[in-house]
Amino acid sequence: MDRNACLSERRDYTSWLAHGPAASIIRSTKVGDEQRQRPRIGQNARMNELFSTRSEGEEDRGPLMRDLACLPVFFALAGKRVVLAGGSNAILWKAELCQAAGAEVEVYSEDTCPGLVAFASRHPQVSLVSRRIEPENFRGAALAIAEAESAADAARLRAAARTAGVAVNIIDKPGFSDFQFGAIVDRSPLVIGISTNGGAPKLAQALRGRLEALLPREIKLWAQTAKVWREKMKVLDTPLKTRLRFWELFSGRALAARCAPRDGDLATLLAEAGAGADTAAAVTGSVALVGAGPGDPELLTLKALRALQSADVILYDDLVAPAIVEMARREAEKIPVGKRGYKPSCRQDHIVSQLVALASQGKRVVRLKGGDPMIFGRANEEIAALRAAGIPVEVVPGVTAALGAAAMLQVSLTEREKARRLQFITAHAHDGKLPGDMDWRALCDPRASTVVYMGVKTLEPLAGLLLANGMDPSTPALLVERATCPDERRIFGTIGNLAAKVAEAEPAGPCVIFIGESFATAFSLPLTQVKLEAESGALAR
Ligand SMILES: C[S@@+](CC[C@H](N)C(=O)[O-])C[C@H]1O[C@@H](n2cnc3c(N)ncnc32)[C@H](O)[C@@H]1O
Repeated sequence: MDRNACLSERRDYTSWLAHGPAASIIRSTKVGDEQRQRPRIGQNARMNELFSTRSEGEEDRGPLMRDLACLPVFFALAGKRVVLAGGSNAILWKAELCQAAGAEVEVYSEDTCPGLVAFASRHPQVSLVSRRIEPENFRGAALAIAEAESAADAARLRAAARTAGVAVNIIDKPGFSDFQFGAIVDRSPLVIGISTNGGAPKLAQALRGRLEALLPREIKLWAQTAKVWREKMKVLDTPLKTRLRFWELFSGRALAARCAPRDGDLATLLAEAGAGADTAAAVTGSVALVGAGPGDPELLTLKALRALQSADVILYDDLVAPAIVEMARREAEKIPVGKRGYKPSCRQDHIVSQLVALASQGKRVVRLKGGDPMIFGRANEEIAALRAAGIPVEVVPGVTAALGAAAMLQVSLTEREKARRLQFITAHAHDGKLPGDMDWRALCDPRASTVVYMGVKTLEPLAGLLLANGMDPSTPALLVERATCPDERRIFGTIGNLAAKVAEAEPAGPCVIFIGESFATAFSLPLTQVKLEAESGALAR
């Protein structure tokens, strides 16, 4: 067998065991059950050879896993008998799980909660027995689950189960249990079990929450379809290399899925896999313009996270937090394409041609931009070029700097009487100067909130022009540097004096400037926050 193929197959070794050469070894073992479970001497050597990741002369790295707290196994329960002892809601939940997994459920209890009675009445494969469980009831069961009030009770139930040769879980008593229930992410047939070996079930639940958020609902439909396609591909007798590439492509699509697989998808993926495997021919990829938010990684959207985790290549802006870039797939290529005002920058036309070139190689490209891609992000140029090249584009919004900063200030950008208009402006023209063609009347509207992007260097002429066009010099104005980042800094003032304060403070990070009456409330931050900022030198009123 081709060694590399064997190594790659190893990722999916369960299926390989079922269908690949190892299967023939297992199938050819026409002996008793016990022997079938234990490979013969020689057969072991053959299995080791097939599974080995070592090249010749390489040191033995030892076992792949050490100190595994428990073995995660996925137990098929369909049609099997599971006995439960107890009548509480906890037993009800376990009964529901076992019933969902297709088990014949028997619940023994002298005092059954109403939910359990209702549940049993809805499901014919669930039976309630109104008495204590007896040792003989464990016999022949696939699993046993029980609740016990005391340690003595738990020990008695465990002993009865063990005598019958049945693995038992005593609810909330890991010391008496042969197995634990992990937290479950259910996208059946895709099932993820999470265990802390009984140590911290809440941690497992929190992790489940994260995974739930990460996995699209539609992945379930792809996992279902995988079973059907696997059978079809057997008939097609596709070459191994193509099959491997096919399942890689399939997994990428499933992880980013927004809808169920369609009729033509099998053929398309097979064609792509065949082209890639044999000739490395180009197939069209895609580009997603993804908003990374202003800095705090927690502000990333779920959609952005999914896009990052299914991308082959990521072109990221200078302002994107490293922690966000790290959320991408480890194998993804990460290319910095930073553009910084008044500093050496990556040229926009170069970024655009890179996007087109990478996507034309069939790659899923993420163009990761600070804040929101559609706010001062030159998104139109990128979208136009990609469309012209026939490359599918998607935009994933992000939290723009103004919104991140306002959230941190706890100040609304609109207010019924004071701020009926909200305007985001850039104070940076293509030549680095203040744009000369702005609508000064709109900017001086006393009922407007104005947020200035890229305005530090041009704040002085901007304030001068606003004052010259009639803005009240006492209009509140403040600057927020590195909004939402741990080292966020604020400089409070008025349109009359902010430029001087900013020149003195010399902010080096990205800044937004808020101008308008509604920002007066930002000056009355909760005392504790003001104190903290004053102590850290951040609050320069
Ligand atoms: C090229 S624009 C990109 C804006 C971005 N697309 C957005 O939606 O926030 C860069 C400017 O955004 C502002 N900016 C970005 N991140 C910021 C942050 N964390 N705090 C304050 N301003 C920020 C600054 O004005 C910076 O010069």
